[in-house]
Amino acid sequence: MNEWIQKMKNADGIILASPVHYSAIAGTMKSFLDRAFFVTGVNDGMLRHKVGASVVAVRRSGGLPTFEQLNNFINYAEMLMPASNYWNVIHGRTPGEVNQDIEGVQIMRVLGRNMAWLMKLVQYGKEGVRAPEREPKTFFSFIH
Ligand SMILES: Cc1cc2nc3c(=O)[nH]c(=O)nc-3n(C[C@H](O)[C@H](O)[C@H](O)COP(=O)(O)O)c2cc1C
Repeated sequence: MNEWIQKMKNADGIILASPVHYSAIAGTMKSFLDRAFFVTGVNDGMLRHKVGASVVAVRRSGGLPTFEQLNNFINYAEMLMPASNYWNVIHGRTPGEVNQDIEGVQIMRVLGRNMAWLMKLVQYGKEGVRAPEREPKTFFSFIH
């Protein structure tokens, strides 16, 4: 955990990726995200305003719920999310099979280009445009 948290701390951009296991994030990745984002995203805002994107590999179905689940971590950490020309899901079962999904390959290429461009915008924009201050988190649990 600590090694990967350090890697995320040093990165300007982060890609979260998972295969689909039972229409959801793979268990190992989910455990990692639950712990890592509690430390980095919630507590000290370490990932705030870093660029972050999610990508999913799936054999047949369950790609979109998994994509949404990964995106939830990125949104919660106040990261900046680039988009592609479709949802970032690519199809394949065995290693390398995704290369046959030519639409999926294009989605990933467009995402990569948009992500690289957004990271440059953030890097150069920071000098001229001040970022909004981080607000202390308000919790409201619907209990009265
Ligand atoms: C435990 C498990 C659950 C899976 N569930 C799904 C599923 O819900 N939908 C699907 O299309 N493929 C499912 N698959 C197939 C994987 O999404 C697909 O083979 C994946 O791209 C392979 O990645 P992996 O070998 O790293 O797990 C599942 C595979 C495993 C091992």
